[in-house]
Amino acid sequence: MSTEAPEITKQLLTPPRVRRAWYILCRSDELGKAPIPRTLFGDPIVLFRDAEGTAGALVDRCPHRSVPLSGGDVVQGTLRCPYHGWRFAPDGACVHIPALIGLSDRAVHAATAYPVRERQGYIWCWADPTSPPQTEPWSFRLSSEPGYTVVQREVRAQATIHAVAENALDVPHTAFLHGGLFRNDADRQPIQCVVQRYADHVECEYVGESRPEGIVGRLLSPSGGVVTHFDRFYLPSIVEVEYRIGDENHILVNAALTPADDFDTVLHAVVAVRTRVPGWLLRPLVMPFALRIFGQDAKILAQQTEIMHRFEEQRFVSTELDLLGPHILKLLQRAERDDLGDLQRPPTRREITMLV
Ligand code: FES
Ligand SMILES: [Fe+2]
Repeated sequence: MSTEAPEITKQLLTPPRVRRAWYILCRSDELGKAPIPRTLFGDPIVLFRDAEGTAGALVDRCPHRSVPLSGGDVVQGTLRCPYHGWRFAPDGACVHIPALIGLSDRAVHAATAYPVRERQGYIWCWADPTSPPQTEPWSFRLSSEPGYTVVQREVRAQATIHAVAENALDVPHTAFLHGGLFRNDADRQPIQCVVQRYADHVECEYVGESRPEGIVGRLLSPSGGVVTHFDRFYLPSIVEVEYRIGDENHILVNAALTPADDFDTVLHAVVAVRTRVPGWLLRPLVMPFALRIFGQDAKILAQQTEIMHRFEEQRFVSTELDLLGPHILKLLQRAERDDLGDLQRPPTRREITMLV
């Protein structure tokens, strides 16, 4: 194994906030006739649908007297404040003020609107209402490909977006925290890891891995086979874990992370699976394990957050086995500063051997 000086990162407790980016606020089917409240970086947002069903997102604060608009209702496709009944369109325009003779001053009385997109069953919001979107939301691969079973699920962790992304892509903890479910601590094998760091994403390929011997691996591929395994993080909030086991088994775990607050992250997972095990059987077999694994992760992440707050700092001492986490933090910090440089520049490449 190569040796590198330990990397020590220490910073104050304000995690990077990448605001010029799209984040999922809810599933499409969660937003019906009633407005619903959400937060992004702790800021309150209200979502509602207009008369055509188009989703809108406003700062959840009535411009009149600052009450939450999410306590109101939707009338003729406009969001009505519960206090004096001002009504707002999805672009924030104040379209009605009860008892006022004449028109409202649309600019002065308007609520602040966030750009919104509805794609693949999710409602996305651009987190900076002061700048127009420069990109489009992430699109989930394979979610409508024939032969794939797709499972969507939301889970939540009291941790930073960085901690959740690192955890989702961190291999060394799986044999330990989730011992027996994926891998076993006592039964490790050396594999080659190739990390490629790009300007806006980072990828690790694991070469020479055999099928994980834990319960989840056996369920997905009873006959074993050669494993191709990639872990990826894309700015600002996408994690991807891809496994191919043998010729026919393909598992793509995609998750979009939403920073509801600095230490409160919602993970919207879209898992696409193609295996010989039929979809109707796979879901009840795998879901309890997936939820148990995530429960273990959420618990340890909440403990990590508590200790970070107690010591009022984020202090991490890393080794070369922390393949992705330190770089994910750098990417988030650069994105927050809008300092990604040339996105086309070639990646830097690193290879290490790890016992997994
Ligand atoms: S506070 Fe909203 S209408 Fe008065
Ligand atoms: Fe985990």
